[in-house]
Amino acid sequence: MELVDPWHRRIRKLRVSLTDRCNLRCRYCMPLHPDFMNKSYYLKTHEYAEIIQELLTYGIEEIRITGGEPLVRPEFPEIMLELHKLKIPCLSLTTNGALLQDHWEILKACNIKKINISLDSLEAETFTAITHWKYLSTILDNISQAVTQGFEIKINMVIMRGINDHELFDFVEYARKSSIAVRFLELMRIGYANELYQNHFISAEECIIKLKTRYRMNKINVESDSTAFYFMIDDEIKVGFIASESQPFCNHCSRWRLSADGRLFACLFAETGIPIRNVSSEQRNHVYQQLLGMKPIQRFDQVKHPMYQIGG
Ligand code: GTP
Ligand code: 5AD
Ligand code: SF4
Repeated sequence: MELVDPWHRRIRKLRVSLTDRCNLRCRYCMPLHPDFMNKSYYLKTHEYAEIIQELLTYGIEEIRITGGEPLVRPEFPEIMLELHKLKIPCLSLTTNGALLQDHWEILKACNIKKINISLDSLEAETFTAITHWKYLSTILDNISQAVTQGFEIKINMVIMRGINDHELFDFVEYARKSSIAVRFLELMRIGYANELYQNHFISAEECIIKLKTRYRMNKINVESDSTAFYFMIDDEIKVGFIASESQPFCNHCSRWRLSADGRLFACLFAETGIPIRNVSSEQRNHVYQQLLGMKPIQRFDQVKHPMYQIGG
Protein backbone atom coordinates (compact mmCIF):
# COMPACT_ATOMS: atom_id res chain seq x y z
CA MET A 1 0.00 0.00 0.00
CA GLU A 2 1.24 3.50 -0.77
CA LEU A 3 0.91 6.63 1.35
CA VAL A 4 -0.95 9.13 -0.80
CA ASP A 5 -2.65 12.15 0.72
CA PRO A 6 -5.86 13.89 -0.38
CA TRP A 7 -3.79 16.25 -2.60
CA HIS A 8 -2.16 13.30 -4.41
CA ARG A 9 1.19 13.77 -2.72
CA ARG A 10 2.87 10.38 -2.29
CA ILE A 11 5.05 10.10 0.80
CA ARG A 12 8.28 8.46 -0.30
CA LYS A 13 10.94 10.11 1.85
CA LEU A 14 11.39 9.87 5.58
CA ARG A 15 13.73 12.12 7.55
CA VAL A 16 14.88 10.23 10.61
CA SER A 17 16.31 12.10 13.56
CA LEU A 18 18.76 10.16 15.76
CA THR A 19 19.11 12.83 18.42
CA ASP A 20 18.16 16.42 19.18
CA ARG A 21 21.68 17.06 20.55
CA CYS A 22 24.35 18.86 18.55
CA ASN A 23 27.99 19.83 19.04
CA LEU A 24 27.38 23.16 17.24
CA ARG A 25 25.01 25.96 18.17
CA CYS A 26 24.00 27.59 14.88
CA ARG A 27 22.27 30.83 15.68
CA TYR A 28 19.32 30.09 13.39
CA CYS A 29 18.77 26.65 14.82
CA MET A 30 19.47 26.41 18.55
CA PRO A 31 19.69 28.63 21.59
CA LEU A 32 22.93 28.31 23.55
CA HIS A 33 21.16 26.26 26.21
CA PRO A 34 18.44 24.31 24.47
CA ASP A 35 15.67 22.40 26.10
CA PHE A 36 16.78 18.91 25.06
CA MET A 37 14.73 15.73 25.32
CA ASN A 38 15.44 13.28 28.09
CA LYS A 39 17.79 10.75 26.44
CA SER A 40 15.78 7.85 27.85
CA TYR A 41 13.03 8.80 25.36
CA TYR A 42 15.28 8.24 22.35
CA LEU A 43 14.24 5.42 20.05
CA LYS A 44 16.43 2.34 20.45
CA THR A 45 18.18 0.70 17.52
CA HIS A 46 15.58 -2.07 17.18
CA GLU A 47 12.73 0.46 17.36
CA TYR A 48 14.19 2.45 14.43
CA ALA A 49 14.57 -0.80 12.49
CA GLU A 50 10.99 -1.95 13.19
CA ILE A 51 9.38 1.38 12.36
CA ILE A 52 11.39 1.88 9.19
CA GLN A 53 11.01 -1.70 8.00
CA GLU A 54 7.26 -1.32 8.15
CA LEU A 55 7.27 2.04 6.40
CA LEU A 56 9.26 0.52 3.53
CA THR A 57 6.26 -1.70 2.84
CA TYR A 58 4.22 1.51 2.45
CA GLY A 59 6.43 2.81 -0.30
CA ILE A 60 9.09 4.81 1.57
CA GLU A 61 12.16 4.79 -0.69
CA GLU A 62 14.58 7.23 0.89
CA ILE A 63 15.67 7.52 4.49
CA ARG A 64 17.68 10.62 5.35
CA ILE A 65 19.39 10.43 8.73
CA THR A 66 19.42 13.77 10.54
CA GLY A 67 19.55 15.26 14.03
CA GLY A 68 20.31 17.56 15.76
CA GLU A 69 23.65 16.20 14.67
CA PRO A 70 23.28 12.46 13.99
CA LEU A 71 26.98 11.69 14.55
CA VAL A 72 26.85 12.72 18.21
CA ARG A 73 24.51 9.83 19.00
CA PRO A 74 26.84 7.17 20.50
CA GLU A 75 24.78 4.36 18.94
CA PHE A 76 25.16 5.87 15.42
CA PRO A 77 27.23 2.94 14.06
CA GLU A 78 24.92 0.33 15.55
CA ILE A 79 21.77 2.03 14.24
CA MET A 80 23.25 2.48 10.77
CA LEU A 81 24.34 -1.16 10.51
CA GLU A 82 20.85 -2.26 11.52
CA LEU A 83 19.25 0.03 8.94
CA HIS A 84 21.64 -1.21 6.27
CA LYS A 85 20.18 -4.70 6.76
CA LEU A 86 16.77 -3.39 5.67
CA LYS A 87 18.01 -2.82 2.10
CA ILE A 88 16.56 0.69 1.94
CA PRO A 89 16.72 1.89 -1.70
CA CYS A 90 18.48 5.10 -0.62
CA LEU A 91 20.00 5.74 2.79
CA SER A 92 21.51 9.22 3.10
CA LEU A 93 22.87 11.55 5.77
CA THR A 94 22.68 15.23 6.70
CA THR A 95 25.45 16.33 9.06
CA ASN A 96 27.46 19.35 10.14
CA GLY A 97 30.59 17.43 9.13
CA ALA A 98 32.54 18.09 12.32
CA LEU A 99 32.82 14.43 13.34
CA LEU A 100 33.02 12.73 9.96
CA GLN A 101 36.69 11.85 10.41
CA ASP A 102 35.69 9.11 12.89
CA HIS A 103 33.00 7.57 10.71
CA TRP A 104 34.27 6.79 7.20
CA GLU A 105 34.33 3.04 7.72
CA ILE A 106 30.82 2.82 9.05
CA LEU A 107 29.44 5.08 6.31
CA LYS A 108 30.96 2.83 3.68
CA ALA A 109 29.90 -0.34 5.46
CA CYS A 110 26.27 0.73 5.32
CA ASN A 111 26.48 1.93 1.74
CA ILE A 112 25.75 5.61 2.35
CA LYS A 113 26.37 7.45 -0.90
CA LYS A 114 24.83 10.89 -0.44
CA ILE A 115 25.91 13.21 2.37
CA ASN A 116 24.65 16.77 2.79
CA ILE A 117 26.96 18.91 4.89
CA SER A 118 26.06 22.25 6.46
CA LEU A 119 28.74 24.88 5.90
CA ASP A 120 27.75 28.49 6.41
CA SER A 121 31.11 30.19 6.01
CA LEU A 122 34.58 29.60 4.61
CA GLU A 123 36.07 32.15 7.01
CA ALA A 124 37.04 30.95 10.48
CA GLU A 125 35.77 34.02 12.30
CA THR A 126 32.42 34.20 10.52
CA PHE A 127 31.95 30.46 10.89
CA THR A 128 32.45 30.66 14.64
CA ALA A 129 30.16 33.67 14.93
CA ILE A 130 27.35 31.66 13.29
CA THR A 131 27.93 28.22 14.82
CA HIS A 132 29.88 28.83 18.04
CA TRP A 133 32.29 26.13 16.78
CA LYS A 134 36.00 26.87 16.53
CA TYR A 135 37.26 24.16 14.21
CA LEU A 136 36.23 25.12 10.69
CA SER A 137 39.42 23.58 9.30
CA THR A 138 38.39 20.12 10.56
CA ILE A 139 35.11 20.43 8.66
CA LEU A 140 36.84 21.63 5.49
CA ASP A 141 39.30 18.73 5.73
CA ASN A 142 36.43 16.31 6.22
CA ILE A 143 34.64 17.65 3.17
CA SER A 144 37.78 17.14 1.05
CA GLN A 145 38.18 13.64 2.48
CA ALA A 146 34.55 12.82 1.73
CA VAL A 147 35.00 13.84 -1.89
CA THR A 148 38.23 11.86 -2.21
CA GLN A 149 36.51 8.82 -0.78
CA GLY A 150 33.79 9.02 -3.41
CA PHE A 151 30.79 10.22 -1.41
CA GLU A 152 28.33 12.43 -3.27
CA ILE A 153 28.46 15.67 -1.28
CA LYS A 154 26.16 18.66 -1.25
CA ILE A 155 26.92 21.73 0.83
CA ASN A 156 24.04 23.52 2.57
CA MET A 157 24.86 27.19 3.15
CA VAL A 158 22.25 29.25 5.02
CA ILE A 159 22.80 32.67 3.53
CA MET A 160 22.19 35.69 5.76
CA ARG A 161 22.41 39.35 4.85
CA GLY A 162 25.22 41.16 6.63
CA ILE A 163 26.53 37.95 8.16
CA ASN A 164 27.80 35.69 5.37
CA ASP A 165 26.22 36.98 2.14
CA HIS A 166 29.56 38.54 1.19
CA GLU A 167 30.73 34.96 0.62
CA LEU A 168 28.21 34.19 -2.15
CA PHE A 169 30.84 34.21 -4.90
CA ASP A 170 33.44 32.53 -2.66
CA PHE A 171 31.11 29.57 -2.26
CA VAL A 172 30.60 29.27 -6.01
CA GLU A 173 34.37 29.28 -6.51
CA TYR A 174 34.74 26.77 -3.66
CA ALA A 175 32.22 24.55 -5.48
CA ARG A 176 34.23 24.92 -8.69
CA LYS A 177 37.53 24.04 -7.00
CA SER A 178 36.22 21.08 -5.04
CA SER A 179 33.69 19.75 -7.60
CA ILE A 180 30.89 19.78 -5.05
CA ALA A 181 27.33 21.04 -5.44
CA VAL A 182 26.53 24.02 -3.24
CA ARG A 183 23.01 24.96 -2.16
CA PHE A 184 22.09 28.34 -0.73
CA LEU A 185 19.29 28.01 1.83
CA GLU A 186 16.94 30.83 2.65
CA LEU A 187 16.91 31.53 6.36
CA MET A 188 13.67 30.14 7.75
CA ARG A 189 11.50 31.76 10.40
CA ILE A 190 11.82 29.45 13.34
CA GLY A 191 10.45 30.38 16.74
CA TYR A 192 13.12 32.09 18.77
CA ALA A 193 15.25 32.93 15.69
CA ASN A 194 12.64 35.32 14.32
CA GLU A 195 14.75 38.37 15.06
CA LEU A 196 17.58 36.92 13.02
CA TYR A 197 15.11 36.37 10.20
CA GLN A 198 13.78 39.91 10.34
CA ASN A 199 17.24 41.45 10.20
CA HIS A 200 19.16 39.07 7.96
CA PHE A 201 16.83 37.29 5.52
CA ILE A 202 17.95 37.39 1.91
CA SER A 203 15.93 35.77 -0.86
CA ALA A 204 17.14 33.21 -3.37
CA GLU A 205 16.01 35.57 -6.12
CA GLU A 206 18.34 38.32 -4.89
CA CYS A 207 21.26 35.89 -4.81
CA ILE A 208 20.50 34.67 -8.32
CA ILE A 209 20.41 38.24 -9.64
CA LYS A 210 23.83 38.86 -8.07
CA LEU A 211 25.28 35.64 -9.46
CA LYS A 212 24.00 36.45 -12.94
CA THR A 213 26.11 39.61 -12.98
CA ARG A 214 29.16 37.38 -13.06
CA TYR A 215 28.14 33.95 -14.35
CA ARG A 216 26.20 32.28 -17.12
CA MET A 217 23.53 30.23 -15.33
CA ASN A 218 21.41 27.49 -16.89
CA LYS A 219 18.50 26.05 -14.96
CA ILE A 220 18.53 22.26 -14.83
CA ASN A 221 15.75 19.71 -14.38
CA VAL A 222 15.29 17.97 -11.05
CA GLU A 223 12.90 15.47 -9.47
CA SER A 224 9.51 17.09 -8.90
CA ASP A 225 9.74 16.64 -5.10
CA SER A 226 13.20 18.20 -4.74
CA THR A 227 13.60 20.81 -2.00
CA ALA A 228 16.03 22.67 -4.24
CA PHE A 229 16.12 24.06 -7.75
CA TYR A 230 19.46 24.06 -9.51
CA PHE A 231 21.56 25.88 -12.08
CA MET A 232 24.75 24.92 -13.85
CA ILE A 233 27.26 27.74 -13.84
CA ASP A 234 29.73 27.82 -16.71
CA ASP A 235 28.62 24.24 -17.45
CA GLU A 236 30.70 22.95 -14.55
CA ILE A 237 29.41 24.14 -11.18
CA LYS A 238 26.09 22.92 -9.75
CA VAL A 239 24.48 25.56 -7.58
CA GLY A 240 21.12 25.07 -5.89
CA PHE A 241 18.66 27.15 -3.92
CA ILE A 242 16.26 26.06 -1.20
CA ALA A 243 13.81 28.91 -1.11
CA SER A 244 11.65 27.64 1.75
CA GLU A 245 10.38 31.14 2.55
CA SER A 246 9.93 32.89 -0.78
CA GLN A 247 9.00 29.85 -2.90
CA PRO A 248 7.51 27.18 -0.61
CA PHE A 249 7.35 23.74 -2.16
CA CYS A 250 4.54 22.18 -0.09
CA ASN A 251 2.48 21.21 -3.12
CA HIS A 252 5.06 18.63 -4.16
CA CYS A 253 6.42 17.64 -0.75
CA SER A 254 6.93 13.89 -0.31
CA ARG A 255 8.35 13.87 3.24
CA TRP A 256 7.45 12.75 6.69
CA ARG A 257 9.74 13.05 9.70
CA LEU A 258 10.46 10.68 12.56
CA SER A 259 11.72 12.48 15.68
CA ALA A 260 14.31 10.95 18.01
CA ASP A 261 11.62 10.35 20.63
CA GLY A 262 9.49 8.33 18.24
CA ARG A 263 6.88 10.73 16.90
CA LEU A 264 5.91 10.89 13.25
CA PHE A 265 5.39 14.39 11.84
CA ALA A 266 3.58 15.04 8.58
CA CYS A 267 5.43 18.31 7.99
CA LEU A 268 8.34 20.43 9.16
CA PHE A 269 5.75 23.02 10.16
CA ALA A 270 3.49 20.62 12.07
CA GLU A 271 2.73 21.45 15.66
CA THR A 272 2.03 17.88 16.73
CA GLY A 273 3.57 14.55 15.92
CA ILE A 274 1.97 11.17 16.59
CA PRO A 275 3.86 8.73 18.86
CA ILE A 276 4.60 5.54 16.95
CA ARG A 277 6.61 3.37 19.35
CA ASN A 278 4.86 0.49 21.10
CA VAL A 279 1.98 0.80 18.67
CA SER A 280 0.67 -2.36 17.01
CA SER A 281 0.91 -2.70 13.26
CA GLU A 282 -2.86 -2.32 12.92
CA GLN A 283 -2.95 0.85 15.00
CA ARG A 284 0.01 2.17 13.05
CA ASN A 285 -1.97 1.94 9.87
CA HIS A 286 -4.54 4.15 11.57
CA VAL A 287 -1.76 6.62 12.53
CA TYR A 288 -0.55 6.76 8.91
CA GLN A 289 -4.05 7.53 7.67
CA GLN A 290 -4.32 10.28 10.29
CA LEU A 291 -0.97 11.74 9.25
CA LEU A 292 -1.96 11.80 5.60
CA GLY A 293 -4.71 14.18 6.59
CA MET A 294 -2.34 16.35 8.64
CA LYS A 295 0.02 17.49 5.91
CA PRO A 296 -0.87 21.06 5.05
CA ILE A 297 -1.10 22.12 1.42
CA GLN A 298 0.16 25.56 2.33
CA ARG A 299 2.89 26.23 4.81
CA PHE A 300 2.19 27.90 8.12
CA ASP A 301 3.73 31.21 9.04
CA GLN A 302 6.67 29.83 10.88
CA VAL A 303 8.17 26.56 11.96
CA LYS A 304 6.71 25.61 15.34
CA HIS A 305 9.52 23.31 16.45
CA PRO A 306 13.14 24.18 15.79
CA MET A 307 14.58 21.74 13.27
CA TYR A 308 16.89 20.14 15.81
CA GLN A 309 13.83 18.87 17.70
CA ILE A 310 12.03 17.14 14.83
CA GLY A 311 14.79 16.40 12.35
CA GLY A 312 16.90 19.10 10.75
P1 GTP B 1 18.33 16.09 -1.02
O1 GTP B 1 17.65 14.77 -1.18
O2 GTP B 1 19.80 15.96 -1.11
O3 GTP B 1 17.80 17.16 -1.92
O4 GTP B 1 18.10 16.52 0.50
P2 GTP B 1 17.18 17.57 1.23
O5 GTP B 1 17.32 18.92 0.65
O6 GTP B 1 15.80 17.01 1.33
O7 GTP B 1 17.80 17.49 2.70
P3 GTP B 1 18.70 18.38 3.65
O8 GTP B 1 18.79 17.60 4.92
O9 GTP B 1 19.97 18.76 3.04
O10 GTP B 1 17.82 19.63 3.92
C1 GTP B 1 18.12 20.87 3.42
C2 GTP B 1 17.05 21.87 3.70
O11 GTP B 1 15.87 21.50 3.04
C3 GTP B 1 16.61 22.04 5.12
O12 GTP B 1 17.40 22.93 5.77
C4 GTP B 1 15.30 22.74 4.94
O13 GTP B 1 15.55 24.10 4.69
C5 GTP B 1 14.80 22.11 3.68
N1 GTP B 1 13.83 21.09 4.00
C6 GTP B 1 14.01 19.79 4.22
N2 GTP B 1 12.86 19.16 4.47
C7 GTP B 1 11.90 20.12 4.40
C8 GTP B 1 10.49 20.13 4.55
O14 GTP B 1 9.86 19.11 4.82
N3 GTP B 1 9.87 21.33 4.38
C9 GTP B 1 10.54 22.47 4.09
N4 GTP B 1 9.88 23.59 3.91
N5 GTP B 1 11.86 22.50 3.96
C10 GTP B 1 12.53 21.35 4.10
N1 5AD C 1 16.77 28.23 8.30
C1 5AD C 1 17.35 27.61 7.26
N2 5AD C 1 18.01 26.44 7.37
C2 5AD C 1 18.10 25.88 8.58
N3 5AD C 1 18.70 24.75 8.98
C3 5AD C 1 18.47 24.61 10.31
N4 5AD C 1 17.75 25.65 10.79
C4 5AD C 1 17.51 26.47 9.72
C5 5AD C 1 16.83 27.71 9.55
N5 5AD C 1 16.25 28.35 10.56
C6 5AD C 1 19.46 23.92 8.06
C7 5AD C 1 20.86 23.55 8.47
C8 5AD C 1 21.10 22.24 7.73
C9 5AD C 1 19.73 21.81 7.28
C10 5AD C 1 19.37 20.41 7.58
O1 5AD C 1 18.83 22.67 7.93
O2 5AD C 1 21.80 24.49 8.11
O3 5AD C 1 21.92 22.40 6.60
FE1 SF4 D 1 23.55 21.61 14.88
FE2 SF4 D 1 22.62 21.55 12.38
FE3 SF4 D 1 21.32 22.94 14.26
FE4 SF4 D 1 23.71 23.78 13.41
S1 SF4 D 1 21.82 23.60 12.16
S2 SF4 D 1 23.04 23.64 15.57
S3 SF4 D 1 24.77 21.90 13.01
S4 SF4 D 1 21.56 20.73 14.20
